[in-house]
Amino acid sequence: MPEKWFVYMQNQPIGIFDSGLGGLTAMSEIQRLLPDEDFVYFGDTARIPYGTRSRPVIEKYSMQDCKFLLSKGVKAILIACGTVSSNALDLLEGSFSLPIIGVIEGAAGRAAEIAEAGNGIVCVLGTEATIKSNSFVNAVNKINPHLKVISKSCPMFVPLVENGYTNKDNIAANAIADEYLSEIALQKPSAVILGCTHYPLLADVIGNYLPDSALIDSGREAALILKEKLSASGLLTGSGRGNTEYYTSDDITLFASLAKRFLGSDISMNTYKTDIENFS
Ligand code: DGL
Repeated sequence: MPEKWFVYMQNQPIGIFDSGLGGLTAMSEIQRLLPDEDFVYFGDTARIPYGTRSRPVIEKYSMQDCKFLLSKGVKAILIACGTVSSNALDLLEGSFSLPIIGVIEGAAGRAAEIAEAGNGIVCVLGTEATIKSNSFVNAVNKINPHLKVISKSCPMFVPLVENGYTNKDNIAANAIADEYLSEIALQKPSAVILGCTHYPLLADVIGNYLPDSALIDSGREAALILKEKLSASGLLTGSGRGNTEYYTSDDITLFASLAKRFLGSDISMNTYKTDIENFS
C-alpha cells in the first residue's frame, strides 16, 4: 500500500512552460501520450522572446516560471523551451526537488541515431541563446564524437509562428527560411533538430528547403522521456481526469486565440492570467 503523500503526488498535475505558445507543440504530444494526466501550462507571453536574451535573464525568468508551477502543486516539470533547456536546466534541477525534463537529451539521442545510420551530419536549428550555448552540439557529440554537428540560429522563426505565418506557401516564411537554410541544404544533413519548440509549426516550410533531412521535434522527444521517467518512478496517476489549465502572463483572449492555431481547439474557458513578477 503506497504512502498517502505518494498517492497525493501521483494525482498532482504535470507542469509545462515556455516563453510563449511554442511549448504547446510539446504539450499536445504529452497530452496524447498521457491522456489521464492533468496539466498546468504556463506561456510567458508578456516576456517573449527569451531566445534573444542573456543567460542571467533567462535564468531569472525560468526560476520564476518554475516557482509559479510549483505554486500549482505540480509533480514534475517539462521545460518546453529549447532556450531555457539550453541555458538554465542545471540551475533549475539544482534548485527544485522534483523531476525536471528539458528538450535537449531526447532530441540529441534521436538525431545521433539517425545520423549514424545516414551521412553522419546533424544540423541544429534554434534561437540565438540556444545556439550560443552549444547545448545540442555538446549533447550529440557526447553520444558520438565522430558526428559532424552544424548549427544555425533562426531568430525570425519565432515571430513568424507567433503571428501565424506558418503555411507551406507563405511568402514571408519561405523568404526567411531560404535565407537561413539554403546553405545548410547543400550539406544534406541526415537529421535536423528543431531545437526551438516553436519550429514544428514551420515543419512544412523548413521541409521545403531540407527535403533530404529527418526533422526532429525536440518537444516530442522530451514528452517521450517524461512519460518514461514518470512511469519508472511510479508517479503517473490512475485517476483518469485529463484536465488542463492554461496560464499566460499577458492577455488571455489573445493567448487563447493564438493557441487555437497550435492545438486546433478552443481553450478560452480554461485560460487564466498570472502576474509572473510576483514569483521571485
Ligand atoms: N520556444 C522557445 C524555445 O524553444 C523560443 C521562443 C523564444 O525565443 O522565447 O527556444
